[in-house]
Amino acid sequence: MAQHNLAWMPTLSYDTQAVLVTDKVRFQGQEVAAVIAEDPYIAKDALELIEVDYEPLEAIVTPQRALEENAPVIRTDKDGVTDNHIYHWESGDKDATDKAFAQAEVVVALDTFYPRCHPAPLETCGCVADINPATGQATIYMTSQAPHAIRTVFALVAGLPEEKIRIVSPDIGGGFGNKVPVYPGYVVATAASLLLGRPVKWIEDRTENLISTGFARDFHMHGELALRKDGTMLALRTSLLADEGAFHADAQPTKFKVGLFHIVSGSYDFPAVHVSADGAYTNKAPGGVAYRCSFRVTEASYLIERLVQNAAYELGMDPAELRKKNFIEKAQFPYESATGFVYDSGDYHGAMDLALEKIGYEELRKEQAEARAQGKLYGVGLASFTEVVGAGPHKDYDILGLKMNDGAELRIHPTGKAILKISCQTQGQGHETTFAQIVAEELGIQPEDIKVMHGDTDNTPYGLGTYASRSTPTSGAATAMVARRVREKARKLAAHLLEVSEEDIEFAKDRFFVKGAPDRAKTIQEVAFAAYTNFPDGMEPGLEGVYYYDPPNLTFPFGTYAVAVEVDPDTGEWKVRRVVAVDDCGVRINPMIVEGQIHGGLAEGFGIAAMQLITFDESGNCIGSNFMDYLLPTAWETPRFELGETVTPSPHHPIGAKGVGESATVGSPAAYVNAVIDALAHLGIRNIDMPVTSAKVWEAIQEAGR
Ligand code: CDP
Repeated sequence: MAQHNLAWMPTLSYDTQAVLVTDKVRFQGQEVAAVIAEDPYIAKDALELIEVDYEPLEAIVTPQRALEENAPVIRTDKDGVTDNHIYHWESGDKDATDKAFAQAEVVVALDTFYPRCHPAPLETCGCVADINPATGQATIYMTSQAPHAIRTVFALVAGLPEEKIRIVSPDIGGGFGNKVPVYPGYVVATAASLLLGRPVKWIEDRTENLISTGFARDFHMHGELALRKDGTMLALRTSLLADEGAFHADAQPTKFKVGLFHIVSGSYDFPAVHVSADGAYTNKAPGGVAYRCSFRVTEASYLIERLVQNAAYELGMDPAELRKKNFIEKAQFPYESATGFVYDSGDYHGAMDLALEKIGYEELRKEQAEARAQGKLYGVGLASFTEVVGAGPHKDYDILGLKMNDGAELRIHPTGKAILKISCQTQGQGHETTFAQIVAEELGIQPEDIKVMHGDTDNTPYGLGTYASRSTPTSGAATAMVARRVREKARKLAAHLLEVSEEDIEFAKDRFFVKGAPDRAKTIQEVAFAAYTNFPDGMEPGLEGVYYYDPPNLTFPFGTYAVAVEVDPDTGEWKVRRVVAVDDCGVRINPMIVEGQIHGGLAEGFGIAAMQLITFDESGNCIGSNFMDYLLPTAWETPRFELGETVTPSPHHPIGAKGVGESATVGSPAAYVNAVIDALAHLGIRNIDMPVTSAKVWEAIQEAGR
């Protein structure tokens, strides 16, 4: 690879990553050599023939060790790098926060670890790279959540002309953030196809996916809340240490080193907040991908919701009351947070009240007291999350300098059927359905008459891809805007057909009509036909448009999740009795799809809280490299979910929608863990790190009893 200047590749965080190892192996599972063969069995046999003579080096498996003075330097490949520290980043006002802490009557602290977990899409990563030696055309069928951005990176790295690169990312299975980064397999397959003049396929097996592709989380977090005795929150201080693995390869917006973690003040009206973050290299696979979350908001939401519950115990207040006392009020929106976000809209009391009512909160508290009297352990956990999705406005949001804007292109055929091409890439979220609904709502064409295309750089407008619940806030908004643009031209055509001036034309549902004379009307289909058959002199024929949307702000979905559990005091086993999830994602385009997204997120949140863990032994061997060790919840363990909704439209999104794909993974882990802690709180237990296994719960009970 070195001969072709491809030994190293840039990452999406301005770092470099080895494509195939040149100097030293930096984590177990790193790609060392590649074999290209006619079939996978020959390739596997050939791999067995390669002997690598490894000289053992000390493995660094924690960021704490990585930052010790005598720790061996992992990135010896980088000029001028003398330690394993990648970045230090701060947000908020340190002085104001320190002052508020000095005046606090109560300070509550929590140290917690959000462990390394893996998005583990059932369909692993892979590609077929096909470079045609005659034409120089590179067609790469690839599992990418961001095909346009990846094409640009390929063009810049390989020096190929961008128009000769076509990335096709069709139905790629689940993504969950795992399919955002560029992996060595893609690059090796492309280089091999270039050398051989034949298509070359690379596909991972399960273990390869689990041990060497993008992990998530791995955040060691410390949080402190400053309060008055009456429960008024005065300030929030957090510091965190991120384990980034051997290469800093996640995709965060350039300006924000730990993504959008500074949303950590969550749903509360804090006068002062300070966040400080450090990242370190370790001998692990690169991590930090946004596993069904908007750039680290999951970790932030977990920290604040766990802290608030612990604060309630210290103050002797009910956790729901403490939250309500400090929620940002409905009238305060748009609300500027202490770390600089402008929350668009919200009604936190409304969502909380509905969740409490649905779960029967007061009744549950009574049951809990009775159960305790009988030696049983019942708990109720709440989480009132605020998500931040739809990155984003060009001023603050870019990845590798590419502004995070998205496009949509709409073409209406003469018979009034349409084709919509969107910049995002769908992985089962149902964009074909919901984006067609957006056009249908704006233009009156039936959804079944609208074909939605995505995931092909030759045939869709530019955009930064689908992750971080950004499709609806960005490409969805572009879709509404392009439909409106087309409608304006259609209005002119209708005026021509109805022989009135444009100002006299109104539109409703699927037709244009003359003001005051609704019977004088033309359907959108009639107007579309006229665009190709009967348009006025001087008008450009055809009916189509393209729109690139630069969001004025992000969108801030929110909700309250309530979980009731029962813990077995003898074994530590915990069972979920109820899960109530009230979500507010603004206007819901398709309620059934939204509910499906929430169900999936609640199941993944449960898996993270209860069982999913990638860990490492002292030598850096990954434990959790198959589905026997890395546990995903099946239908057997997954609890039943009861959903509720409130609707607070986003004031700036063209149809008032906010993203929703990740809300439940973001909000629910804290609710599950808070429920278990709530069952044990009277024993003085305040934290059990995820995954909250029976063994850990049992141990905590034993220690508390000592
Ligand atoms: O970026 P991603 O598609 O993963 O997340 P999303 O924008 O939150 O959308 C997930 C799915 O839910 C899409 O089909 C959306 O169009 C749909 N959705 C909806 O119907 N109403 C909303 N307010 C938000 C999303």
